[in-house]
Amino acid sequence: MKYGDFPKITSFSGVAGFRAHLAELGADMPCDDIVAHGPDQPLAAPLTVDDMTIGNRFAIHPMEGWDGTREGAPTENTIRRWRRFGESGAKLIYGGEAVAVRHDGRANPLQLVMSEATQSAIAGLRETVIAAHKEATGNDDNLVIGLQLTHSGRFCKPNDNRKFEQKILYRHPVLDRKFGIPEDYPVLSDDDIWRLIDDYITAAKRAQACGFDFVDLKHCHGYLGHEFLSARTRPGAFGGSLENRTRFLRELAAGIRAACPGLKFGVRLSAIDLIAYRPDPAASVPGILGPGVPESAAGALPYVYGFGTDAGDPTAYDLNETFEVFEVLRALDIHLVNVTLGSPYYNPHLTRPASYPPSDGYQPPEDPLLGVMRHLEVVRALKARFPDFTLIGSGYTYLQEFLPNVAQAVVRQGWTDFVGLGRMVLSYPDLPLDVLHGRPFQKKKVCRTFSDCTSAPRNGIVSGCYPLDAFYKKSEEFKQLAAVKKAAKTA
Ligand SMILES: Cc1cc2nc3c(=O)[nH]c(=O)nc-3n(C[C@H](O)[C@H](O)[C@H](O)COP(=O)(O)O)c2cc1C
Ligand code: SF4
Repeated sequence: MKYGDFPKITSFSGVAGFRAHLAELGADMPCDDIVAHGPDQPLAAPLTVDDMTIGNRFAIHPMEGWDGTREGAPTENTIRRWRRFGESGAKLIYGGEAVAVRHDGRANPLQLVMSEATQSAIAGLRETVIAAHKEATGNDDNLVIGLQLTHSGRFCKPNDNRKFEQKILYRHPVLDRKFGIPEDYPVLSDDDIWRLIDDYITAAKRAQACGFDFVDLKHCHGYLGHEFLSARTRPGAFGGSLENRTRFLRELAAGIRAACPGLKFGVRLSAIDLIAYRPDPAASVPGILGPGVPESAAGALPYVYGFGTDAGDPTAYDLNETFEVFEVLRALDIHLVNVTLGSPYYNPHLTRPASYPPSDGYQPPEDPLLGVMRHLEVVRALKARFPDFTLIGSGYTYLQEFLPNVAQAVVRQGWTDFVGLGRMVLSYPDLPLDVLHGRPFQKKKVCRTFSDCTSAPRNGIVSGCYPLDAFYKKSEEFKQLAAVKKAAKTA
């Protein structure tokens, strides 16, 4: 077997074959032989958090499409994606997609922005989910819908898809080098941050007026909220001690709570992070990315630049500060946490285990099932320590046909409260309803983790499931993406 070449999920014969491979990997992953249906199915059990009763244990993760208007309003593609979220039958729509609280915080020029001009169209997205959900399931009982609010920090590209216009909180020896940030590049001032907090509060008021049940205060994936948590070297009110590094989160919660009585909160948290990875230059040939290897940590040890990262070995994680942040969340009366890992920009194998890398990624440095296992273990450790929290796990899509078996087992055994679906909902939106109703599993729709939904936007093309969703397969953009991939192979 070549380095980076791991057995595909489709090569395992049934649950027994899948289990045998997990045993070879030393991964003790819960997996049920038979997926039940009906009211006794653990995934069908309702759960109440912060007075919100959520009708089943499937959550749809926020999934953006790089397909809004320049102004930040949804387009037909955006509406179609949200409609499919509603049709899924999942009772928790955790955030919809990342919506910037202001223009300069957009991750791409077509990211949605919450503003006076876009508010009613964003309210329309919520209504679309409800209507589609009712049509697919007959009612909208116990359907809970949140909106993810974001500022993209180090990964802002508000005006031009090829040009980062970073907003950084501190100088990061590895990421600054990786993403070419010049030595004299400014960091955001405390005054900038206070103004940004006001923008979040305004955006949250708009989200509440749209009817969203909660707002997600995004603290993940290398974006601004997440960067605060590792700002140990930043002086002033927002850096250094954990108290200072969580000031942004605490000010957001207090400000929004005062301005939006009754609005609930969730936090999407990258619970752990590792140093950035890159394709092994020694094993890369034109058009074929090498397997991922860690960037050099020379000059960056002890590694104080990660959150949930082992300072002595930044290729390993350490949950101690994550536990402390959960204590902060508890003190803020926030109990809904969507747990994710790392960043899709610099260690995508951590965030989205996949067989095939996105165009700016690398071949898997480990069997992606170990990546899924890492997600499960982190959530399990958090749930064991904080049973009063309601947790949503991520990274399940790579499980493919075994997703229902593992999903049922982890919920049944209390490893997580919700199973979140990301890429799978793009290719196979009706998976939750198929599972809940015991309908046949539709193999043709299973996301095979080709990563085209990431490679397309990395190359300035709207996102979508190009390989499996006929809507995108037949589009002009499909041809553009094929041309980009061909050019990369011959470069
Ligand atoms: C096309 C695409 C768009 C995404 N958009 C968002 C987003 O807007 N907000 C967010 O927190 N995560 C976003 N993610 C990450 C997913 O929510 C999810 O964490 C990730 O895909 C792993 O889950 P999965 O294995 O089910 O795909 C996105 C991922 C993809 C592939
Ligand atoms: S493009 Fe489709 S098959 Fe590929 S990873 Fe995205 S959702 Fe999955």
